[in-house]
Amino acid sequence: MKIAMIGTGYVGLVSGVCFSDFGHDVICVDKASDKVARLTQGEVPIYEPGLEAVLARNVAAGRLYFTTDLARAVDGADAVFIAVGTPTRRGDGHADLTHVMAAASEVAQALTGYAVVVTKSTVPVGTNRKVAQVVREANPEADFDVASNPEFLREGAAIDDFMKPDRVIVGVESDRARNVMSDIYRPLYLRDFPVVYTDLETAEMVKYAANAFLATKISFINEVAALCERVGADVKEVARGMGLDGRIGNKFLHAGPGYGGSCFPKDTSALARTGQEYGVPQRITETVIAVNDMTKRRMIDKVMNLCGGSVNGCKIAVLGVTFKPETDDMREAPSLTIVPALVGGGAQVCVVDPHGQREGEALLPGVTWMDDPYAAVEGADCLVILTEWNAFRALDLKRLATSMATPSMADLRNIYDPADALAAGFTAVETVGRAG
Ligand code: UGA
Repeated sequence: MKIAMIGTGYVGLVSGVCFSDFGHDVICVDKASDKVARLTQGEVPIYEPGLEAVLARNVAAGRLYFTTDLARAVDGADAVFIAVGTPTRRGDGHADLTHVMAAASEVAQALTGYAVVVTKSTVPVGTNRKVAQVVREANPEADFDVASNPEFLREGAAIDDFMKPDRVIVGVESDRARNVMSDIYRPLYLRDFPVVYTDLETAEMVKYAANAFLATKISFINEVAALCERVGADVKEVARGMGLDGRIGNKFLHAGPGYGGSCFPKDTSALARTGQEYGVPQRITETVIAVNDMTKRRMIDKVMNLCGGSVNGCKIAVLGVTFKPETDDMREAPSLTIVPALVGGGAQVCVVDPHGQREGEALLPGVTWMDDPYAAVEGADCLVILTEWNAFRALDLKRLATSMATPSMADLRNIYDPADALAAGFTAVETVGRAG
């Protein structure tokens, strides 16, 4: 199959690279010529484990190209995937579809024969029909169908998630489009990964419902964690006890500083907005968003408490600022709420993050970046663990405590046993939902 992928952001790039690995001919399009030049050289602009190697082998095999020339990519393509950004629109919390519609219109004018125009970007229900309308208006002669094919990959595990998905969801309206999509995904269902065909609206809703549900699990356990702290229970064990029930499952029940990233905050907000628009408020999702905001703010109080009520004049070492490990992505990271509050409160903040500095420097002004956790805690009053990078999971707690001015720790990812930290010389330990 010949595939054009419009947009080389996270989803577009990973999808394009993986489709070429399935053996398809893929041309990825981006307006940014410097990015296209770098990708053509095999240079990946984001940190995603494994991506560079898969990209390189498919470029070398002559199956994967990058270009700024959309018309060239679309010419003769069996499917044109739109994978451009849908950020939260300022003011009303809805998904901003400007880029999607602009891409649809450009694609329409470049179509040379039958193609399926597939939306991979996360878009609110009803968008695929609007895409069809835009294509029709821009090119009344166009021979096309639309398809909704939301993506469920996680940053940091993107290649595996794409190659071994729990499911692929495809919303289509014609057999012709379904046949093209099934040729594209044949390598997956030959290996028994479920490919579910449905209508456009259902496919669009699956994506939002899935992300909102996962965000709900996280906000739920974060709220339970706050109660555990009051009643003396351990949220890790509560989550384990709950998760052993197969109906609940043990995933996404890790209490922490609140969810971040480019998806959950944006998608919960867009779902809530769609609910309001249709007069069916999504009250659970609205509450999930409010609890997540509260959770992030609650983390600031924990650090304040450890520093005796105010962080003014305190030296604080923060380990991890990306929204989760194995990514350099800082979008909506809890650190963006927590670290500025500490800096604003008069603390001197040192930050260590294996891949966060490149993006983080502009987003977290007034902090000092360091490479080594042990150097960062020297003379510090508080150690804050914000992202659970593997590099932070087996630190020598004794060595840390000894070099700190006041050995206190806010372990906001619950990666250490508070009893071990106390035994190692920490005098105060805050966790999320565990007895300290
Ligand atoms: C999420 C979904 O997991 C993917 O299925 C989906 O495709 C993607 O959004 C998207 O819509 O594009 P991602 O944002 O990469 O993926 O990251 P997650 O691993 O889901 O983590 C999101 C946030 O939740 C992180 O801040 C993480 O630290 C937090 N989290 C996750 C918790 O606090 N506790 C948990 O138990 C799990």
